[in-house]
Amino acid sequence: MRKLSSKIVFILSLLIFSVTLITASCKSKPSETKIPSVVLSNGVKMPILGFGTMDIRNADDIAKAIELGYRLFDTATIYRNEEVVGQGIKQNGIDRAELFITTKLWVDDSGYESTKRAFQTSLDKLGLDYIDLYLIHRPRGNDVQGSWRAMEELYEEDKIKAIGVSNFEAHQLSELMANARIMPMVNQIEAHPLFQQYKAQAELELLGIQMQGWSPFIGGRGDILSNPTLVAIGEQYNKTAAQVILRWLLQRGVISIPRTNNHAYMAENLDIFDFELTASDIEKIKALDLNTTQFPDWN
Ligand SMILES: NC(=O)c1ccc[n+]([C@@H]2O[C@H](COP(=O)([O-])OP(=O)(O)OC[C@H]3O[C@@H](n4cnc5c(N)ncnc54)[C@H](OP(=O)(O)O)[C@@H]3O)[C@@H](O)[C@H]2O)c1
Repeated sequence: MRKLSSKIVFILSLLIFSVTLITASCKSKPSETKIPSVVLSNGVKMPILGFGTMDIRNADDIAKAIELGYRLFDTATIYRNEEVVGQGIKQNGIDRAELFITTKLWVDDSGYESTKRAFQTSLDKLGLDYIDLYLIHRPRGNDVQGSWRAMEELYEEDKIKAIGVSNFEAHQLSELMANARIMPMVNQIEAHPLFQQYKAQAELELLGIQMQGWSPFIGGRGDILSNPTLVAIGEQYNKTAAQVILRWLLQRGVISIPRTNNHAYMAENLDIFDFELTASDIEKIKALDLNTTQFPDWN
């Protein structure tokens, strides 16, 4: 009898020990996706998939996205959430060096002196001492060249690891580059199945500028995520229309930054590295192109 009860105690302790081990290993290894990088013209590595933060107001969402494996975070002065992004980073506790943080200079801060001031304000709000990528948000400021000069200096002082622009068309890029000492490394432009931007991508490639696409899901406007062509392509691989769009951008070498505060969507948008679209799938997606902005109200 005594033998039997000591056996039971032994088995029970073995069980408790195994459960503790499993729990500990789950804690130390959250389900984290490793995201491939592209190399910018100055040698800086930038993740090909990141997290858009426009309208994200909760630090928990940033911390969760880091936990799931996102490393690139795209914010901007005009999103008025740089503090939230900074808090989320602190909350997660990740090593700063593992992250790639982008923020953007707003139009009202155009000019040499105001760019230097705005940059410092962004740094302070984020609680960081350098930015990975700083972009001129729109080509509309009254002194874009002055802003660029300030950004070149900040880059040379190592306060920014890469500099670039957003929403610049070919002629605006040429004008900027004609007077620049340091060429832009990134142009972040609208890119999704209804405005595919293949021509812009080819022009940027010739200039050695990396294309980054914004609003892969058209910001939730319209019904792109229930588009029958995209849904049918996804069904072949057991993937959603959202995953098909992100995979299509990935296969083109375009950096994308989907945004969501839904944790299941966050994980879904990361799960795009285990399938491959065929040339025929890509032709079907190409046929959806309306070749025009879906945000005419922003221009
Ligand atoms: N440089 C610029 O001028 C510029 C302009 C626009 C955007 N951006 C950047 O690009 C980022 C992304 O663009 P965006 O914010 O317009 O949004 P988006 O990523 O195109 O779309 C966001 C919408 O898609 C939904 N969604 C996300 N993942 C989903 C999934 N797997 N299944 C179903 N629905 C899903 C979200 O739903 P929930 O609301 O439920 O999460 C939200 O309604 C921005 O956050 C910003 O960082 C830059």
